[in-house]
Amino acid sequence: MQNRKGKIAVFLSGRGSNFDSIYKDSLKHDSNYNIELVISDNPDADGLVKSREYGLNTFAFKRSDYVKKKEFELAILDVLNDHKIDLICLAGYMRLIGKTLLKKYEKRIINIHPSLLPSFPGLNAQKQAYDYGVKFSGCTVHFVNSGIDTGQIISQSIVEVLSSDTLFSLSKKILEAEHIVYPKSIRKYFKTMELK
Ligand code: GRF
Repeated sequence: MQNRKGKIAVFLSGRGSNFDSIYKDSLKHDSNYNIELVISDNPDADGLVKSREYGLNTFAFKRSDYVKKKEFELAILDVLNDHKIDLICLAGYMRLIGKTLLKKYEKRIINIHPSLLPSFPGLNAQKQAYDYGVKFSGCTVHFVNSGIDTGQIISQSIVEVLSSDTLFSLSKKILEAEHIVYPKSIRKYFKTMELK
């Protein structure tokens, strides 16, 4: 049993529905983590607006304000260090994590992807799966490495594709599954991790 709660930073670029489900889970009495920071590369992200409403520490870093990716990531790293972040949770963050962050946060960055990896990595995963005609799809929480959606799998959740499903209804079902499995995976991470 940990003697303190894990501190997470959520990275997002848009809507932020996964952020919202993580936030709500973090407020439960038996949660073993807190959202310490919300970081976005998009100052107008809806998720960022919501995180401000919740009174969380929020930061926007525009990639265009930095010449090199390394400088951009070093600026983010400063904030992560200031807040002693244990785990970065990517939740609809539309940028590849570069070497600078990967090195400092090795095995401490996780992501959620809307397919059953290793099938359908990359963009529009729900559409890729739907167009392929799979009978089951779902979502995957995985560690982030230098590849695209190739890191070690932490958890998966399966969704059945019915003949009546449209791309819209399938995407909705997958998103609902994401909202359950992502907070669970964060709890699982902190149950097994020794916090310093
Ligand atoms: C989700 O489908 C997630 O799997 C993917 O990006 C989307 C983010 O949605 N990585 P939201 O911003 O959390 O609503």
